[in-house]
Amino acid sequence: MSDVIPMPVGPAGGHVRLGSNAGQSMTRRDGIAKVTGTATYAADNRPDRLLHAVYASASIARGRVTFLDTAAAEAHPGVVMVMTPANRPPLAIHPDEKVGMFGQKIEALQDDGVRYAGQPIALVVAETLEAAAEGARLLAPRYEALPPRIDIDAQPRFEAETVGFGFPAAHAVGDLEAGLAAAARVVERDYVTPAQYHNALEPHAIVAEWQGDRLIIDTPNQAIVMMRGVFAAYFDMPEENLLLRSPYLGGGFGSKAAVWGPQLLVILAAKALGRPVKLALRRDQMFGPVSHRGATRQKLRLGLDAEGRLTALEHRAAAVGSSFENFFEPAGRASENLYATPAMAMSHEGIRIDTGTPGAMRAPGEASGSAALESVMDEAAFELGLDPLEFRLRNYAETDPATGNPFSSKALRECYAQGAARFGWAGRPLQPRQMRDAAGLLTGWGMGTAIFPAPMFQATARAVLRADGSAVVETAAADMGQGAWTSLAQIAADGLGIDVSRLEFRSGSSDLPDAGVAGGSGHTATAGSALFNAGADAVAKLAELATKDPASPLFGAGNAAVVARDGRLMLADDESRGEAYEDILARAGLDLIEGHGKGVRGEAEAQSRAMFSHGAVFAEVKVDPDLGQVRVSRLVGAFAAGRIINPKLADSQLKGGMIWGIGFALQEEAIHDPRTGRPVNADLAGYHVPVNADVPHVEAITVHEDDPFVNTLGVKGVGEIGITGTVGAIANAVWHATGVRVRRFPIHPEDLIG
Ligand code: MOS
Repeated sequence: MSDVIPMPVGPAGGHVRLGSNAGQSMTRRDGIAKVTGTATYAADNRPDRLLHAVYASASIARGRVTFLDTAAAEAHPGVVMVMTPANRPPLAIHPDEKVGMFGQKIEALQDDGVRYAGQPIALVVAETLEAAAEGARLLAPRYEALPPRIDIDAQPRFEAETVGFGFPAAHAVGDLEAGLAAAARVVERDYVTPAQYHNALEPHAIVAEWQGDRLIIDTPNQAIVMMRGVFAAYFDMPEENLLLRSPYLGGGFGSKAAVWGPQLLVILAAKALGRPVKLALRRDQMFGPVSHRGATRQKLRLGLDAEGRLTALEHRAAAVGSSFENFFEPAGRASENLYATPAMAMSHEGIRIDTGTPGAMRAPGEASGSAALESVMDEAAFELGLDPLEFRLRNYAETDPATGNPFSSKALRECYAQGAARFGWAGRPLQPRQMRDAAGLLTGWGMGTAIFPAPMFQATARAVLRADGSAVVETAAADMGQGAWTSLAQIAADGLGIDVSRLEFRSGSSDLPDAGVAGGSGHTATAGSALFNAGADAVAKLAELATKDPASPLFGAGNAAVVARDGRLMLADDESRGEAYEDILARAGLDLIEGHGKGVRGEAEAQSRAMFSHGAVFAEVKVDPDLGQVRVSRLVGAFAAGRIINPKLADSQLKGGMIWGIGFALQEEAIHDPRTGRPVNADLAGYHVPVNADVPHVEAITVHEDDPFVNTLGVKGVGEIGITGTVGAIANAVWHATGVRVRRFPIHPEDLIG
């Protein structure tokens, strides 16, 4: 896993290679700052003369606001502004227009309409947080309410044009009907997944301050430079006049790769009042204007021949959007690239309800789609009398089923083998309800396959070698807790050929080069490539100086004959001949040398290879036969995700995804009151996510995988794949324990008894 692979000669000359710093299990460089409280999150900022904002949320899900007691709110001591649709200063772009690639309609007091419960309907700004909260309470809104359309199954369905952020809603390969007709057996099942809310530990927050024409905002964000552009567009200001700082995020999961209405209102208030304004969402406000994972209804149909090979795979998903905006969980896409089949068809329908618009939430589409796919695969294996792992091996895809293209790399077979061995899968009884533990709990084993794309976006970076041999690198990366500050620094140090202890890593601010989005599990690959290339560019310039300088021991060496490591340039075939960076810079009379790099995938690679991380997840559950209570007693995942930059952090990401899988399978679900349309469990007491007691034993194995195509670093990604596979594995284990097949997530105790 940590052996050095040679770097191909890149645009910068190829003196450096990955492997001195990358591959080490470094501890998070921001860890001490975080646990000692010195890390400054957005809401920790307290500029002078700070004002506090609280917004009032709609308590109806559909209709309009007919009255707000603004006079009472304004009269409250300390309140300095009450912003409503009647007096909200103009924005340069209407909130119902979309800005940028990931743009959605948002809610920024554009009118008196209410389109979901929890929508902001007024903003109160005051000298203290308490006064703002009391002012918001005094507004005592009255409404003209219409019956909320909240029952998903009662609403009409329509053909979705696109899913997710503009993906095609339908895709077919081969002749589905012919494949089904040729099948010896057809397995058809329906699955249900709920609405889930990101619930990052750090709620969305902003501190906005205008300094003349300049705007400074502290707000957690996963796509810092791109979102600076979006913020600037709403205020019709030059991007360079806007500074967005986001050094730390307490989780993002997709909901912080965007601009939301409440942030715009705070910026407007700060401008109108000429003072900085802060807003931090309350936990219940996280269930409204800041997106969520939309619910799905999924139908899967498998055609199978007598040997248990797929003749057809059909995945029809219905996904919930809001009444006013299209973001449909692209669940069907999860079936496109995993199992070999001569015919497949995926399509999506939309359903509109009176809720906030769904959006990207960790493994958007893949999580819900994989839950259904891995469940139906398990059901089919049982019908065929096959071990679920054997069944998956019979349907192993040697090339991408969606395109026929070769995979850039695919060590899924090794994942199956290593995961099964570690878990002790062999000898699992095929029939359910065969195993009990010493305490009499029903025990079951299930498995699922994990798959997630390995995308690259676009990033740029700058690297500066200093006269003393230390270096600084700059890119506006986002560390939402996944460890970017550490793993990206390791890559950057290798790009510069220095030890990471000599590296200053600047990120998290929009005045740095664009690092793209921390999302799609592509940040390490994308921003990492930019950083590596920037370092390599600086080193190439240094090598140029040395090899042309008669005073250098490297004088006359060909460019390709020189390698860089530990702050020295050396002859590749005689490392004793070389010199330190400091010496080269000193002789040249330079204070520094600067390099630039980009991270982007070549068109040719993108089109000719299918690029995915893979994995296999094995679950053991214990079910109380009387109470139906489910405990996941063991989870083992084996994942192949290309080169692992930091095994400790990758382990943490993979386990985090698997733990999210526990939540998806057994806990997470937003429940809306059908009478009011309000979420009734909009807090962490009622909206359950796994806690330590729910997670007794989780293991993540990383399987060696060299990928010469995915990017020059060989890096895929580990941020999201852990959820996929895991949900199905747990559901399958619950069935194996109890003999009860639950096709509605999350699985409730009452589903298993009675
Ligand atoms: Mo994301 S859903 O932040 O990749």
